[in-house]
Amino acid sequence: MTLSQLLNQRLSAALAAAGCPDASPILQTASRAEFGDYQANGIMAAAKAKKTNPRALAEQVIAQLDLAGIASKIEIAGPGFINIHLDPAFLAGKVSAALASPSLGIEPQSPRQKVIVDYSSPNLAKEMHVGHLRSSIIGDALVRVLAAIGHDTIRCNHVGDWGTQFGMLTAYLVESENQDAGLALNDLEDFYRKAKIRFDEDAAFADRARDYVVRLQSGDAEVLALWKQFVDVSLTHCEAVYRKLGVSLTRADARGESAYNADLPVIVRELREKGLLAEDDGAQVVFLEEFRNQDGDPMGVIIQKKDGGYLYTTTDLGAVRYRCRELGVDRVLYVVDARQSQHFQQVFTLCRKAGFAPENVQLQHIGFGTMMGEDGKPFKTRSGGTVKLIELLDEAEERAFQLVSEKNPDLDDDARRRVALAVGIGAVKYADLSKNRNSDYIFNWDQMLAFEGNTAPYLQYAYTRVASLFRKAGEHDANAPVQIDAAEEKALAVALAQFNDVLYHVADEGYPHFLCQYLYQVSTLFMRFYEACPVLKSEGAVRASRLQLARLTAATLKTGLDLLGIEVLEAM
Ligand code: ARG
Repeated sequence: MTLSQLLNQRLSAALAAAGCPDASPILQTASRAEFGDYQANGIMAAAKAKKTNPRALAEQVIAQLDLAGIASKIEIAGPGFINIHLDPAFLAGKVSAALASPSLGIEPQSPRQKVIVDYSSPNLAKEMHVGHLRSSIIGDALVRVLAAIGHDTIRCNHVGDWGTQFGMLTAYLVESENQDAGLALNDLEDFYRKAKIRFDEDAAFADRARDYVVRLQSGDAEVLALWKQFVDVSLTHCEAVYRKLGVSLTRADARGESAYNADLPVIVRELREKGLLAEDDGAQVVFLEEFRNQDGDPMGVIIQKKDGGYLYTTTDLGAVRYRCRELGVDRVLYVVDARQSQHFQQVFTLCRKAGFAPENVQLQHIGFGTMMGEDGKPFKTRSGGTVKLIELLDEAEERAFQLVSEKNPDLDDDARRRVALAVGIGAVKYADLSKNRNSDYIFNWDQMLAFEGNTAPYLQYAYTRVASLFRKAGEHDANAPVQIDAAEEKALAVALAQFNDVLYHVADEGYPHFLCQYLYQVSTLFMRFYEACPVLKSEGAVRASRLQLARLTAATLKTGLDLLGIEVLEAM
């Protein structure tokens, strides 16, 4: 059981014994030291429901509350809050237990679920650009956290590998046939641009392109082989980005739109059988009462166009159906730009109606805002073009290299390169992950690379400091008992005991910034502890115990940053 589960369980039992079996304790971490470590704020609501005096009810609850060996002080505050001060001996036990456990005391969350995370998912045939950054790193952090707390996770890169642009590209590939295809595809961006120009200026070429789409959809082997070339080249580009970015997706995780091609007619048939389809101007449409257009009429969602073609929505219906029926998932997370919110709400509504997703399968859109340039407009190159993701990452590494060279000129070139990669990429990822994903944010190199504040370099540096402590400490007892005396020791131990709860919270709500906030808090509390409580200069049991606290801090920072996909360094 996690710390908050334990406290909640005991508080609920006490509330029940005091005559409020249905009341929630509403447990929160205390906002100030004088309120203790945790505060139960649910007593007022419980008293209101029971029409009794809240302070009197709080007294009754405390009389029934069994926190022996867990809390050292329990008191009533204000109109009926219950403040809980954790027992230092209990916290010391928690620290020791976490150190002795291979998982740092992180327990599997129950019930265990099969969770698929649909993320990154770029449209192929173009190189990944900065617009793909957020989905790739937020999705990766979530899938890592879910796996760390024991869920059965599936990474899914729902790449856009199907659709009309592939007709245009194959037509252009055939036209430039005498060029070496491998060479022609070397620069995908350039290839796409040239193909688009041909498409726009030559009607005969555009007709050929459309013909290729039809042949592609009907499974023409020759056209499929050409198409596959694009997909392969494009996935190779993606893999290079993922490697550099430290995102755990591989080619095996790519299951794109094309995978559902054969299911699309079945989707249409099943929707028709359910009586959900209507014909509108030749197209197959579902009208959804739940969504209204400007005139207040039910909104029409096109499933199949007049010309027989299918849409993005149709493919997503196929994907949900596959994930539920074939994979048997309990939960699907879509880490996709917030601007697609309506699309997903419609897909989810439709899937329930059509029975593609049973009610007990959770379908969640994990939306996010836009990454802005320093001018407050969507991030672009100086000339207004889209920024290739790989170039942004190269720049991050280069900037970090300059910084490290200034800060630590003694490191050799190799070591500096290694630090630059970890710090540069870490900074880009952390700057994104540490913000509430719902908002837009301004991409600012100086801020993200700063060694102070809530940044990756600050946390990486904090880790390095703890690590260096152990190098200096020499021989010491890894099983030494922990004792918590000073206020700074206690504050650090309380935070360390909350790691498991934080991971559950991130997984439940889909917000990686909770973990960032937590790790920043742990580093800050460690720095305070380190200033107030001498470690290497103290002696005997005190020294050994403080080293234990430092050891758990290091392990927590390392594990936490790893779950965010950020590397730590033993020295930097
Ligand atoms: N390829 C899409 C895009 O670039 C994102 C796909 C997200 N996933 C999904 N199942 N629709 O906008």
